[in-house]
Amino acid sequence: MNTLLQISDMGMVFPTPKGAFVALEHVNLTIQQGEFVSLIGHSGCGKSTVLNVVAGLYQATSGGVILNGKEVQQPGPDRAVVFQNHSLLPWLTAYENVELAVKQVFSKTGEHSKTKTEMKEWIEHNLKLVHMDHAMHKRPNEISGGMKQRVGIARALSMQPDILLMDEPFGALDALTRAHMQDSLMEIQQELNNTVIMITHDVDEAVLLSDRIVMMTNGPAATIGSILDVPLARPRDRLALSRDAEYNHLRSDVLKFLYEKQRKVENLNAPVNKCDQGENANHAA
Ligand SMILES: Nc1ncnc2c1ncn2[C@@H]1O[C@H](COP(=O)(O)OP(=O)(O)O)[C@@H](O)[C@H]1O
Ligand SMILES: [Mg+2]
Repeated sequence: MNTLLQISDMGMVFPTPKGAFVALEHVNLTIQQGEFVSLIGHSGCGKSTVLNVVAGLYQATSGGVILNGKEVQQPGPDRAVVFQNHSLLPWLTAYENVELAVKQVFSKTGEHSKTKTEMKEWIEHNLKLVHMDHAMHKRPNEISGGMKQRVGIARALSMQPDILLMDEPFGALDALTRAHMQDSLMEIQQELNNTVIMITHDVDEAVLLSDRIVMMTNGPAATIGSILDVPLARPRDRLALSRDAEYNHLRSDVLKFLYEKQRKVENLNAPVNKCDQGENANHAA
């Protein structure tokens, strides 16, 4: 496997009215091509900050990110981001929202350019991948929350990014829709072998989808506490897995990390240290 992304000794200090706030410290992570990695941790620990640095939206105050051998300094089409709340333009149809991204990436001259016909086919292909071809001429206010997220994923995929960055992409959806979206994402990843970093606070979602689960300690000065390999065979079936001993073992490892290891310190009323001062430190995102 090839290394695609390397996060090296990333630190992030935010200036605040009360002084410098150390959000992240010594975050180190290497991601291979085609890997599905999820980031899990309590609310406010710094998951989105890590993702935003990888996306190039934030500049780390120390260390940095190397993608495909190049340092990340700004956002770029090699990294597509999907947020919890869809960021579709309300006056454009699903098709036109995807088209905007496709034009941005493929209308230039050069080896990656596409003709008008090729672009149309490519937009339709991506909407089909997320099962939205039947509603591609609808506007965001005419479709459900799950469908909007599908369009957001189609838009991200249509850019053919080297890595897909997802910040709680299904966090605002009801449980059933969420399950459908997870299954779709697994299907797509199986087919396209995308490299993905997904933030989630859902333990089952993390185990079901991931090759590795990166578990973060509580902030301030949050870092990676532990990384769990998820060697479950693919394709994965949620029903079969719910009865699978290995699945349940992995699931309980994540739960233990979140609710014993990262919670214990405060429960025992231990002296205040840097790991238990974060606001909402005990609530998973
Ligand atoms: N732009 C910012 N300025 C100051 N503090 C910030 C900023 N962005 C995030 N933080 C703080 O950094 C910590 C991590 O935030 P975030 O990455 O959003 O956490 P998570 O996504 O894990 O919930 C939080 O304590 C948050 O308040
Ligand atoms: Mg967040």
